[in-house]
Amino acid sequence: MSTQHAFFSSPATTISTGFRDSAFVGNRDLPVHRWVPWIAGFSAHFVDDCLSKYLPANGKTDRWVLDPFTGVGTTLIQAYTRGFNVVGFEINPYAALAAKTKLQADHLDPSALRAHVFGFEKFMRRQCVPTNGQPRSKPPSGFSGRTQLFSPAVERKVLFALDYINAVEAPAIRDLFRLALGSVMVSFSNYSYEPSLTRRSAVDREPVLDADVGAVLSLKLKLIGSDVEWLRQELAKLEHRPRGKVYSESFFSALERLEENSVDLVVTSPPYLNNYHYPRNTRPQLHWLGFASGRGYPGAREDSSFGKFWQTVRDKDPVRLTFSLPSLQQSIDEIRGRNTEKGPYGGPGWANYVATYFNDTHRFCTVLSKLLKPHAAAVIVLGNSIIQGVEVRTDCLFGTIAELCGLTFEDTILLRKKRTGTSIIQSSVRVDKAAHKTVLYESAIVLRGRPERT
Ligand SMILES: C[S@@+](CC[C@H](N)C(=O)[O-])C[C@H]1O[C@@H](n2cnc3c(N)ncnc32)[C@H](O)[C@@H]1O
Repeated sequence: MSTQHAFFSSPATTISTGFRDSAFVGNRDLPVHRWVPWIAGFSAHFVDDCLSKYLPANGKTDRWVLDPFTGVGTTLIQAYTRGFNVVGFEINPYAALAAKTKLQADHLDPSALRAHVFGFEKFMRRQCVPTNGQPRSKPPSGFSGRTQLFSPAVERKVLFALDYINAVEAPAIRDLFRLALGSVMVSFSNYSYEPSLTRRSAVDREPVLDADVGAVLSLKLKLIGSDVEWLRQELAKLEHRPRGKVYSESFFSALERLEENSVDLVVTSPPYLNNYHYPRNTRPQLHWLGFASGRGYPGAREDSSFGKFWQTVRDKDPVRLTFSLPSLQQSIDEIRGRNTEKGPYGGPGWANYVATYFNDTHRFCTVLSKLLKPHAAAVIVLGNSIIQGVEVRTDCLFGTIAELCGLTFEDTILLRKKRTGTSIIQSSVRVDKAAHKTVLYESAIVLRGRPERT
């Protein structure tokens, strides 16, 4: 059984821009980046290209690279291994665990990790025979879905694995085990990533009645172990040890954590305007790793997510823009007027989502403009969207809003046409036929910090 999620799909046309492919799929074979797949994560090579272009190496010991939407830490780990200090914010506790664990991994003792993996294999071989009693760990109460996440046979083994993990005393090793379990658990579950979390039965896949949970997990841990050794060697080549910090909280509170005028480069990708629901799609990990209990995904702080979700704003009174941008207001009005008979499921609901998304963009740019050093670059990867048949050019709008907040909108770099994840747009957003065929694309906008502070 594969230990990789089918988290990434449709091929896209990449465009020659001097930047290498931005899609996460390129990370699958790279040490450390390959620990956890993440939707809309981007590639380590793309980050490298940004570092080379916008943060040349001279005098880099005191340089800070920020990723406000850290995901599983692609920007941070790439900048860290090149000697930059890094700081990130990530609201999803499972993704934050991934990023934190990666940044701590060079402090791990590889032989202690190997001993634990060996101990784990022995424990699982001993415990997982059918006659050997019941695990002490209990399944979480909150995972809700039409299908149980695991078959009874698989669940029993996962619970034994948790028995072992919970007894590991060293927090860094325990976190690595938890992360490895989070990374592989969907592969032996009755769900799959399509790229949204979907019941296997809904996409004509056979149920997983049984699986060698111990073997899948230990294989992943061995791969992680060899990457830990690689990471230690990379860090040993540096003349100094960079600093790294991940806040498992919303970027909107960043000014409570970071000093103004302190960031040398941002490379990031916020949630796109495609309503991809990170908390919902990480329900298995949130519940089984203990980040959420009860129904839903309370630990994932859905309400503080950038852009919110259509589900959380569609029924509200019409959401107004908190700033003035007539071209955007016009698009929102156009969306609001589409399919009005469907109420929150038609234009009015989607217009609320778009307005909320750009209100958060304005909040984001306000914070960013305070954190960036004068002229420092922020590279922000975005995708356009088609909402109720209306194309929303998120990149242009984001750049224009940034300018309203005092940043300079320097450039737009077209990265990919027909990006991954178009199915989300087609199934839930594109209701009307667009008058002309609109190409979905991904681009990076380049912003610059305010030239001087007022
Ligand atoms: C497109 S993904 C970033 C992926 C990342 N570039 C990587 O390679 O892993 C966007 C991320 O933003 C996070 N996010 C959403 N709202 C946030 C907020 N208010 N503060 C911090 N992170 C947030 C989501 O949980 C998601 O992981």
